Amino acid sequence: MTPLVVELLVLPQSTELPDADGFLAVAGLFNAQQREIWGNDDFCETPRAQLARLRSTPTRRRQLLVARAGSAQVILGVAQLNFPLTDNLHTGTMNVVVDARARRRGVGAALCAAAEELAAADGRRTLIAETDHLLGGGEGTAGEGPASFIPQDAAASYALACGFRLELVERISRLDLPADGAGEGFPDSAAGAGYELVFWQDACPDALVDAYAQLRQKMSTDAPLGGLDLVPEVWDAPRVREAEGKARGMGYGVLVCAVRHTASGELAGHTVLEVARSKPAVAYQDDTLVLQRHRGNRLGMMLKAGNLRQLGLHFPEVQRVYTWNAEENRYMLAINEQLGFRPIGYAGEWQKELSLD
Ligand SMILES: CC(C)(COP(=O)(O)OP(=O)(O)OC[C@H]1O[C@@H](n2cnc3c(N)ncnc32)[C@H](O)[C@@H]1OP(=O)(O)O)[C@@H](O)C(=O)NCCC(=O)NCCS
Repeated sequence: MTPLVVELLVLPQSTELPDADGFLAVAGLFNAQQREIWGNDDFCETPRAQLARLRSTPTRRRQLLVARAGSAQVILGVAQLNFPLTDNLHTGTMNVVVDARARRRGVGAALCAAAEELAAADGRRTLIAETDHLLGGGEGTAGEGPASFIPQDAAASYALACGFRLELVERISRLDLPADGAGEGFPDSAAGAGYELVFWQDACPDALVDAYAQLRQKMSTDAPLGGLDLVPEVWDAPRVREAEGKARGMGYGVLVCAVRHTASGELAGHTVLEVARSKPAVAYQDDTLVLQRHRGNRLGMMLKAGNLRQLGLHFPEVQRVYTWNAEENRYMLAINEQLGFRPIGYAGEWQKELSLD
C-alpha cells in the first residue's frame, strides 16, 4: 500500500456540488458500517441527513479525519470526532470506520492515533468511542457481567488494541408495532392522579422551553453512565432550539411527550421519539426522564405509552421503534419489556485517557 495520508476533510456546502465527492465517500462508509452490523438499512442515513448531522453548532465542534492512499488518494477510512464546546470540555467522542477491503492494514490504528493527537491538542483528556454488536454476533466476551454481552469481534478487539477500556454496556431493543394502527394497544393514562401529558411536535412551545431545557440537562447524567468521565451538560432555551434546528435540517420529525404535575405546573419528565422522513417505517427513541422527586408514580410508562400512541397518529407508517438502555437501568428496561421491546444487540461505550503533555 502507498503511504497513508490522514487529514481533515472539509464539509461541502451541499451534497450536490462537485467538491462533495470526498464527503459522499465518507457517507457511504458510515452507511456500510450500519449495514454490516445490522444486516439492514434501519440505521443508514441519506448523505444529506449526514451532512446536516455532521455540521458543527455552537455546542459541538464536529470534525472528520480521512485516511487516503494510492495515486488516486482514495478514502480508505474515516474518524468522526465530536468535541463539546459548552460543557464536558475535557472529552471528545470518536467513531472510526475502515473500508472492508482495506482492513487489518493499520488504517484504523492510524486514524485513532490522529484522532488522539487532535483531541489532545485541544486539551481533551478523555476520548470515548462506541461499538455496536448484533445479538449473538460473535464468540467470546470482553469481560464479566454486562461486559459479557460484548463479543470479541473486530470492533471490540480494535478498541482494546487502541487502549480503550469498556465502561458501559447498553442494550439495543426493537419494538415491532402491530400492522393495524400502531398506537392503539398502548395503555392510556396508567399513572396516578395529579399528572397530565403535554405533547408537541418538532418545536417546544415557548412557555415550556426553559423547563424542557432543564429536563434535557438532567437527562445527561441521570441515565446510568458506568465509568464514563462525563459531567452534566449545560442546556438552555437556545440549545433546545439548536437541537430542534438540527433535527429539521436532517429531515427528522420529532415527537415529544412531557408530563406536568398539575398542582405545581412543573414539568416532571419527558420522552422523545424521532422519525427520519426519508425512512418512514423506522422510529428511534431518544431521551426518557422522570425527575427524581416525581419517581414511583408510573410516569415512565405513562410517558412512553402516550408518545407511542402519538406516533401511531402522526407517523402511521412506522413499523418498528429502536431504543438504547444501559444494561443496569432495570427500571427503564422493565418498562420497555412491558411495552414489547425485545433485545437485538448491544452497544459498548469505551473510554481512553489521553496524555496531554
Ligand atoms: C474496527 C475497524 C475500524 C478496524 O480497522 P482496521 O483498519 O482493520 O484496524 P487496524 O488494521 O489498524 O487494526 C489495529 C488493531 O486492532 C485489532 N483488530 C482490528 N481488527 C481486528 C479483527 N478483525 N480481529 C481481531 N483484532 C482486530 C488488532 O489488534 C489490530 O492490530 P494487528 O492487525 O496488528 O493485530 C474496522 O474493522 C471497521 O471499520 N469496523 C466497522 C466499524 C467499527 O466497528 N468501528 C469501531 C467504532 S470505534
